[in-house]
Amino acid sequence: MELYLDTANIETIKHYVDVIALAGVTSNPTIVKKEGKIDFFNHMKQIKDIIGPQAKLHVQAVGQTREDFIQDAYSILEGIAPDVFVKIPTTEEGLAAIKVLKQEKVNITATAVYTEFQAYLALAAGADYIAPYYNRMRNMNIDAPSFVRNIADQIAREKSNSKILAASFHNVEQVNAALRNGAQAVTMGPDVLTSGLEMPAIAPAVTAFQTDWESIYGVGSSIT
Ligand code: E4P
Repeated sequence: MELYLDTANIETIKHYVDVIALAGVTSNPTIVKKEGKIDFFNHMKQIKDIIGPQAKLHVQAVGQTREDFIQDAYSILEGIAPDVFVKIPTTEEGLAAIKVLKQEKVNITATAVYTEFQAYLALAAGADYIAPYYNRMRNMNIDAPSFVRNIADQIAREKSNSKILAASFHNVEQVNAALRNGAQAVTMGPDVLTSGLEMPAIAPAVTAFQTDWESIYGVGSSIT
């Protein structure tokens, strides 16, 4: 299971890299826009340094045509790092770009996936990750859990190395459902991640343990 942060905010990434077993960071132009007009390549290189060499950085290409996507892909690899996962929309033009880039052994995340058919085409194209937009799918009354389960079953049938990187979450129940149905990876915004640890009973339970301990060994005492 791979847990990703869906943000380009440096401080947030610095915080969570020490808190959870972070598989990496995902971004898209909307996420980048939230950081203002940044020095894009240097900003992304900073993120890559923060998360470390074992973690994965997914950066989205911009444009509409295969030429746009291929050009952006090489700019991303040259400007940030050669092992970045380039996110490319799973459109006709995007699939054409993925076909070329996979021949060049570029790491690819097929994104903007809403339908099983898109996912099958991305799988066939050899995309390393397939990113269904879970919340957006649910908002369109698309059965996202079944989508994940069906694609996970297809990956298992094919013994494919591709992974589902479920994205576009707006609450932890959606994250749980995606993982429960076989997503190998999920990416979520810090708001979703934080909310997942704010279940109201957690803090009182921890406080009660401390209170009981201190009632025996004194306020402020610890095991050491
Ligand atoms: C991955 O990075 C996706 O682009 C992202 O999760 C989409 O999320 P949104 O539906 O909240 O825009």
